[in-house]
Amino acid sequence: MKIIAIDGPSGSGKGTIAKEVAKRLGFTYIDTGAMYRCVALKSIRENIEETKEDEIVDLLKNMDIRLTNDGKVYMDDEDVSDMIREMNVTSKVSKISSIIKLREQMRLKQRDYANKDNIVMEGRDITTEVFPDADFKFYLDASLDERAKRRQLQNEIKGINSTYEEVRKSLEMRDYDDMHRPLGALTRTSDQVYIDSSNMKIEEVINKIIEIVGE
Ligand code: DC
Repeated sequence: MKIIAIDGPSGSGKGTIAKEVAKRLGFTYIDTGAMYRCVALKSIRENIEETKEDEIVDLLKNMDIRLTNDGKVYMDDEDVSDMIREMNVTSKVSKISSIIKLREQMRLKQRDYANKDNIVMEGRDITTEVFPDADFKFYLDASLDERAKRRQLQNEIKGINSTYEEVRKSLEMRDYDDMHRPLGALTRTSDQVYIDSSNMKIEEVINKIIEIVGE
């Protein structure tokens, strides 16, 4: 099975890009952030603090996560695609994803997907820890200003109330958390293809990836 691994910070466009690359290649798209978000959502529903690490790991062990190619997320057959993007989940998921035992369990689940299909998997530690031997490894980046601009625009379209400064600050904090996790920290390595999309259109990034994969 072929594996295309894509890592990068929040707002780098990797979700949109990975989804489209998967579609064009006929691969299965896996959004690993959504997997962490499902655990965060369930921990909120069941009132489990992130300090109760074993209980959090059990949530994942007993959970069925189904990701569809059009980006829908089903947790135990419930469509949670929108719910997992809400503020309360976003603010909890960073702490949840720092739990080492959870990351280890998550890795096993993530590797399982590659036993069945060709995949495009995106996240923070896919190129480094989940699939260090992936067929293709990309690090998708964009400047903080550009990412904040894009995210703010998305919020406006979705009718979410926020200011550019708030969005920028929150991205900056998430970058810090993502890059300083004890396990699974977002890292650049010399064997990733680095793409800075700050001045590129989504289509250009997709074409570049397809071109490299096709070679
Ligand atoms: O990509 P996202 O914003 O939906 O990710 C949600 C959270 O999960 C984010 O705080 C980082 C974390 N995450 C992670 O630690 N490892 C991954 N492979 C993917 C996401």
